[in-house]
Formats: sequence, structure tokens, C-alpha cells
Amino acid sequence: MSDTYSRAGARYDTPAVSAYVNHVHAVHDSGLARAFATPADMPAIQVGQSDGRLIHLIAKLVGATKIVEVGTLAGYSAIQLASAMPAGGGHVWSIEFNAKHADVARENVAVAGLADRVTITTGAGRDILPTLEPHGPFDLVFIDADKVNYAHYGRWAVTHLRRGGVVIGDNAYFFGDLLAETDGARGMRVFHELVAAACDSVCAPTPDGLVIGIKK
Ligand SMILES: C[S@@+](CC[C@H](N)C(=O)[O-])C[C@H]1O[C@@H](n2cnc3c(N)ncnc32)[C@H](O)[C@@H]1O
Repeated sequence: MSDTYSRAGARYDTPAVSAYVNHVHAVHDSGLARAFATPADMPAIQVGQSDGRLIHLIAKLVGATKIVEVGTLAGYSAIQLASAMPAGGGHVWSIEFNAKHADVARENVAVAGLADRVTITTGAGRDILPTLEPHGPFDLVFIDADKVNYAHYGRWAVTHLRRGGVVIGDNAYFFGDLLAETDGARGMRVFHELVAAACDSVCAPTPDGLVIGIKK
């Protein structure tokens, strides 16, 4: 059920409600807690706790064993994705431009016991993605890096996903500026539209919008 207010975009969650539902549904084990607590000299811009749990559940639902991520930061979302894969195996290839972020993430992934399931490559998404193509087609691509390249990353994802594979893009409301007449906003709208054309898709109304598309 939704009412007039929630249909128009009003939200009923509050910090206290978010804390409660995170505590009930999206509990962190020690590995996730460590990666979520980014060091003071790194930006705390990882996905939220419920968003992290959501991408974990989507990866589990599609039985993803081959996952690509653009934007690793400290490895929180990579751990969410890798820990969703079946015990028998699977791999996450995660791309991070900042060498310090990549080092912190590698350590967090190792502490979480997932070092054999996650490869973190340092470099720019546009340069590294082509090097991953021999591992494809992929089951899931998660895009959470430089917004200016979302259209490029989205195009790559829908080309290299298997049919039924999932593309997910965070910050799809572009921090509230999605409808602005700027290059960044126009690029994000191209991302929305190309995913919608290639996939059965939705923009889930998470705090900053999460595009989810299943490749047709
Ligand atoms: C929002 S954070 C990623 C958060 C991570 N997905 C999580 O939820 O735990 C974005 C990351 O993308 C990285 N980044 C920025 N530009 C990039 C690029 N061109 N290629 C790859 N990574 C990039 C940043 O250094 C930053 O660590």
C-alpha cells in the first residue's frame, strides 16, 4: 500500500527507523563492520547498510558467480557481493582508481576471508573493464564510481552481462540533480535510458536511487 504522500516521493523512514531496520535485517558480521568503518583519511561514501544488504540479496537471487564492480573504496560492497556467492566458487572483479583505497580494500577483503574470491585492480574503470572481458559474460555488474562515466559503464555492462544478468547503479538520483541541465545529469539520464532499453528495469527509491536492470 502507498498513500498520496509516499506516491509523490515522501519518505517515512527516519534515522531511528533506519537504525532499527538495519539492526533487524542488515546485521554486519565482523568483516562487513570493519569495511564499513572507513579510516578517517578516506571518504565514508560506501553504500548504506540496507543498500549493501540489497545488492547482496540480488546477487544471491540471481545465483551470481561472476561479478564486476566499478568503485571499490574500502571493499564494503565487494564483501557484500562476494559473500552472496555459493560456497562452490565464484569471483568478484572490482576496479578502484585510488591506490590507497585499493590497498585498504584488499586488507578488508582478506580479513573477511574472501581474498580468493575478490580481485581488486587499481586503475580507471574505462581502462580496466576491457581487460576483464575474457572472464565474461557476467552475472552482475555493480556501478558505484565516477558518475561522469555511468553511461559508458552501463553500456559496457549491458554488452557483457549474460541474458538474465543484472546491472545495478547507485546514486541514480545524482544527489538530487538528475533533472539538471548539466553534462553530469545528462550522462546519468543516458545511463537510466540505456539500461531501460536493454533490460527489465526499475530505479528503486533508495536514499539516492538504485537502478536495477535484468538484461533481456
Ligand atoms: C562511492 S565509492 C565506492 C563505494 C563502494 N562501492 C562501497 O559501497 O563500499 C566510489 C569509489 O570509486 C572510485 N573511483 C572514482 N573514479 C573512478 C574511476 N574512474 N575508476 C574506478 N574507480 C573510481 C573512488 O576512488 C571511490 O573509492
